[in-house]
Amino acid sequence: MKRVALAIEKGGTGKTTSAVHLAHALALMGRNVLLVDTDTQDQCAAHLGLKQFQPGLAELILGEVTPRQAVLKARDRLYLLPAGEKLDQVKAGLDDIAARASLETREILAQALSFTSSGSLDWIILDTAPGSDALLLNVLLFADVVITPVPPEMLAIRGMMRFFRTLRLLGRSVDYILPTIHDKRVSKTQRIMDKLKERFSDILLNKISYTSMISEAAGAGLTIFEYKPGHGAAQEYIHLAETIDKESRSWRTNAA
Ligand SMILES: Nc1ncnc2c1ncn2[C@@H]1O[C@H](COP(=O)(O)OP(=O)(O)OP(=O)(O)O)[C@@H](O)[C@H]1O
Ligand SMILES: [Mg+2]
Repeated sequence: MKRVALAIEKGGTGKTTSAVHLAHALALMGRNVLLVDTDTQDQCAAHLGLKQFQPGLAELILGEVTPRQAVLKARDRLYLLPAGEKLDQVKAGLDDIAARASLETREILAQALSFTSSGSLDWIILDTAPGSDALLLNVLLFADVVITPVPPEMLAIRGMMRFFRTLRLLGRSVDYILPTIHDKRVSKTQRIMDKLKERFSDILLNKISYTSMISEAAGAGLTIFEYKPGHGAAQEYIHLAETIDKESRSWRTNAA
């Protein structure tokens, strides 16, 4: 089983969109996938047409529900552990919860997701919140690989460089950069893409193009594979999943 986090401290870079589409694309390829939402916005559920703010990760951490009660079936082979209603509360009380469970604060997520090691899952995909906090730290320590989604624009690239410092402070390498919301009509896009290629050629994934279909699909509770199958962005996300699936054969994993 492989664990992949979509993360960057900057908001609105395509983390949730990419987590949902990578997870669904892997499921469409026949893999068993658990998508874990670690953001209080709980948007993965909405994106997949499920009711938001049901019991989820928060309630699992609090010991109020079992994994079976918290995990929802979203599609064939695609399961969702939503953020839950009380994630704000959990984040605020992380130290307290850790103390009660005799755990390190950084072990809370791994402990809550320990049920995944005995199932038949092939992938865990983790969506993360913008900003930086103890839960993000948990995710970054739990994941085998971190994909950093970043639109090719200056402020986002600066945010990415800052996030890379965070990763290095944790002793992690920078694994993959995913250029998202790539708008070729914007004049600076190509220049920034060229710079990314020059500096990060070995970890740069293929771009995901800008298209209003992505937000339309999300609004309809669908992925682009369902809303506009065959669309360019759908093909780009399928290609991303194929690349990650192939690359993963050479990863060293944290999983048992
Ligand atoms: N390829 C794309 N083309 C057009 N719009 C996109 C694309 N990818 C994402 N978006 C839109 O951009 C916005 C931000 O995307 P998303 O919610 O995935 O970012 P995020 O990094 O998860 O944000 P947050 O930091 O708030 O969690 C959303 O409205 C989403 O529909
Ligand atoms: Mg998000």
